[in-house]
Amino acid sequence: MNPLRKLAVLALAAATLAPLALAPPAHAQKATAPTAAASADPWWKHAVVYEIYPRSYQDSNGDGTGDLNGITDRLDHLKALGVDAIWIAPCYPSPQVDFGYDISDYENIDPQYGTLADFDRLVAEAKKRDIRIIMDMVLNHTSDKHAWFIESASSKDNPKRDWYIWRDGKVGADGKMEPPNNWLSEFGHSAWKYDPTTKQYYYHKFYAEQPDLNWRNPAVEKAMFDSMRFWLDRGVAGFRLDAIDTLLEDPTLADEDYVMDKDGKIVITPAGDKKVDNKKTNNLPEVHDIIKRMRTMVASYPGDRVLIGETYLPNIQELDKWYGGAAQDELNLPMDMQVGFINKLDAPKFRDRLTEVQTDVHGSQPLIVFDNHDNPRLDRYCTEKAGAAPNANCDDIQKMLATILFTTKATALMYYGDEIGMSTTPPTRKEDVKDPVGITAWPKFKGRDGERTPMQWDDGKDAGFSTAATTWLPIPPSFVTVNVKTEKPDQSSVLDYYRKLIMLRRKNSALHSGTMEMLSTSADANVLAYTRTDGKTKVLVLCNFSATPQVFSITGHGAAAKTLAATFPSLGSQPLKDINLPAYGAFVGEIK
Ligand code: NOJ
Repeated sequence: MNPLRKLAVLALAAATLAPLALAPPAHAQKATAPTAAASADPWWKHAVVYEIYPRSYQDSNGDGTGDLNGITDRLDHLKALGVDAIWIAPCYPSPQVDFGYDISDYENIDPQYGTLADFDRLVAEAKKRDIRIIMDMVLNHTSDKHAWFIESASSKDNPKRDWYIWRDGKVGADGKMEPPNNWLSEFGHSAWKYDPTTKQYYYHKFYAEQPDLNWRNPAVEKAMFDSMRFWLDRGVAGFRLDAIDTLLEDPTLADEDYVMDKDGKIVITPAGDKKVDNKKTNNLPEVHDIIKRMRTMVASYPGDRVLIGETYLPNIQELDKWYGGAAQDELNLPMDMQVGFINKLDAPKFRDRLTEVQTDVHGSQPLIVFDNHDNPRLDRYCTEKAGAAPNANCDDIQKMLATILFTTKATALMYYGDEIGMSTTPPTRKEDVKDPVGITAWPKFKGRDGERTPMQWDDGKDAGFSTAATTWLPIPPSFVTVNVKTEKPDQSSVLDYYRKLIMLRRKNSALHSGTMEMLSTSADANVLAYTRTDGKTKVLVLCNFSATPQVFSITGHGAAAKTLAATFPSLGSQPLKDINLPAYGAFVGEIK
């Protein structure tokens, strides 16, 4: 389960869109990267997107925190890996309460990450390597230090008052002032903060320093669309839309329902609150009108700009709505969290969810993702219980998950460090926690520092991440062996396997654009098996989800498969009868 969610967890007519005013953006052209088949598909349909948490990728100026020039310095690593686009977590000016997700200026770069000139250099250098830049756009809320909020909070009749959600409190049974309702912040406790100046409460879905914008006010939509244009005009390839399903709230402010356990008792969150179901504050149907207008605006730019959504949704039907259903006029790539966050090596569940996302979204392109800066890394699949010692086969498990990520018919989204098998390293002492939610909910939830530790480049000082005496988060002890430099020449490394799979996905026409057919059925409790076929080539993928070797046979698909990639020694041809799969073994082969 996603710990972030587990913890608690625009009215412009298209006609009014501003015409393009600036010179053609840097990415006005379509993808030119070599692929198996020249196709008219938008570039993002076959892409590998790589998330970078900028604080943690590469520090270029020795202050212990990563920056944009650091990312530019590491572009060759990304090129060698085969990445098509980088999504950079927010690097705008911010007080950094939520490490950038609290933005105080949407049209600049935070000085600790660099300057707009550094950003432009990054875009240009990335373009030379056929890598696109995707910005993280936080539309739900701003920082409380944003000029709009400062104005809004200054008086009840300020013109920006209605840009945020302000309400009177209510008088409780004891005569004391209480928040307007029982809505909870994702980070614990009431979602309302009292402001003594104007004697009203404002709503914040996340930290109190992240007041929610009022998206029912058309001026908010206009201002935010303008900021999106600012970056589109600078040549970004699109946006990852933060917390996009939380833009709107129920205007009546009705209380949320409580979530009950099987004994009929209200569930208590790690922060100690009575858990609510968030139906009044998440995924309201009116949000789709805003997204359609956003799509129209972004689509007015050349070069197949992409809208990716952070969409934690309850089921595939809800996910389909974020594509716009049959009309396909909303997000290009709402994230599918159904597959990657199963959080258990359960082959039948993977089979069902992978099938659903192929068949139940009106032919839209799935975006599969397994981890990010809010969730434990892939090593969570290696432990039976959170906190338990990882399984000895953890590298194999991570390679198997990578096999699914890169060989299913989907756009692939990976997180920095996955390619070397970095593990989650949470703080062991409350006083070391940086993510405020880890302090609020300690020790039940230790926050998200564990998945945000610095990238491990080599086995030297600060793992090659920095030259500083201390880095913003400590370097995990694993850096001595788990690092890019050590893994690069090692053909059995996680890094080598990632590179191989990404290259195959690019070069093999069936993996690039073939259809996908599940071979194993629900009777196969341990092995996930599917093919990708494009008429010329047929590729077989097998994944053993269990800790015991499995023997698997395929009939009706030919006699043998030539190994393209495998997590175990498998050179040459594998007969399709009685294939031996070691524990957590994954096999990709071309059927002959
Ligand atoms: C989702 C982001 O991924 C997370 O890091 C952030 O804390 C919340 N949205 C609020 O912006």
